[in-house]
Amino acid sequence: MYTPGLSAPPRVTEGASMSNAQTILITGATAGIGKHTAIYLHKKGHRVIATGRNERALAALRELGLSTVAMDVTSRESIQRAVESVREMTDGKGVDVLVNNAGYGLLGPLEELSDEDVRAQFETNVFGLLAVTRAFLPAMHARGSGRVINVSSVGGRMVFPLGGAYHATKFAVEAMSDALRIELKQFGIDVSVIEPGYIATEFTATTVAHARKYQRPDSPYASAMEIVANAENTVAKLAVGPQSVARAIEHAATSRWPRARYVAPFYNALGPWMISMLPTALTDWFMRRAAGLYARKQLASPRATA
Ligand SMILES: NC(=O)c1ccc[n+]([C@@H]2O[C@H](COP(=O)([O-])OP(=O)(O)OC[C@H]3O[C@@H](n4cnc5c(N)ncnc54)[C@H](OP(=O)(O)O)[C@@H]3O)[C@@H](O)[C@H]2O)c1
Repeated sequence: MYTPGLSAPPRVTEGASMSNAQTILITGATAGIGKHTAIYLHKKGHRVIATGRNERALAALRELGLSTVAMDVTSRESIQRAVESVREMTDGKGVDVLVNNAGYGLLGPLEELSDEDVRAQFETNVFGLLAVTRAFLPAMHARGSGRVINVSSVGGRMVFPLGGAYHATKFAVEAMSDALRIELKQFGIDVSVIEPGYIATEFTATTVAHARKYQRPDSPYASAMEIVANAENTVAKLAVGPQSVARAIEHAATSRWPRARYVAPFYNALGPWMISMLPTALTDWFMRRAAGLYARKQLASPRATA
């Protein structure tokens, strides 16, 4: 069983020599962690294939010298086209390292989220990741080597209220990564999970935008959803830059001994550890206070009396 380590991933400061330069494909490389990591690894001398949906953002990465391929992880046709492009670009070799990073957050009370939105959340964060992995594995099998790096979250091992749908996808990513790591080792393919803490990217803005339709004044969760709406002016200020995540991905991609899990920045391992150590009643109380999910006396849900 994994026990969160409190050691930071080692820094790799020198550029990749020609002999250890890897061909690294990153999904969702048009913004945030994926974009930062793509540029970082490119500067380190690796051949980075940045993928995503936003053609303008891909063009900007090409300007910087990166290779790019259009890919929407929710479209099987788009994934297949990307596999073919990569096959041509790599003379049939495929990629050494696949970084499954594309994802977004859906926030809202599980009771109120539409089936359609929850399914779409899983379609990108879980089924998209699995489809991309399956599509790029055959070339790794053929070579007898490769690495798959799945960007999960600290939220793949602990849960915040209103994040139930998002956390469920990241718990799924953790479970699938554990299974893949054990299944694929025999073929020379390593699988690592990256668990970022709160990172300053476009993630909060996208999450708040998705949550907007669940901000209803008549909802029993209205005050909690107001906290979500203000996230950019409150909790987002605690977010740190994506450098530690890029370094963790670099270690997973290049180290002789890639780890099963990387928490980035490392001190975020404290959250899941505390949750596992403290009484649930206490952590639930804290979460309810933080998320505005409490009343001085037990209130009947407006829906129950409607
Ligand atoms: N930021 C955090 O605090 C944090 C913490 C833990 C884990 N993470 C995880 O880190 C990963 C990257 O998030 P981020 O913080 O960098 O967020 P971000 O700045 O919003 O970037 C997300 C990237 O994913 C792409 N994407 C979304 N849906 C896609 C699809 N169907 N096909 C292809 N690309 C798609 C986005 O492209 P478009 O511009 O086309 O939408 C964008 O390039 C996610 O898996 C997220 O869950 C983030």
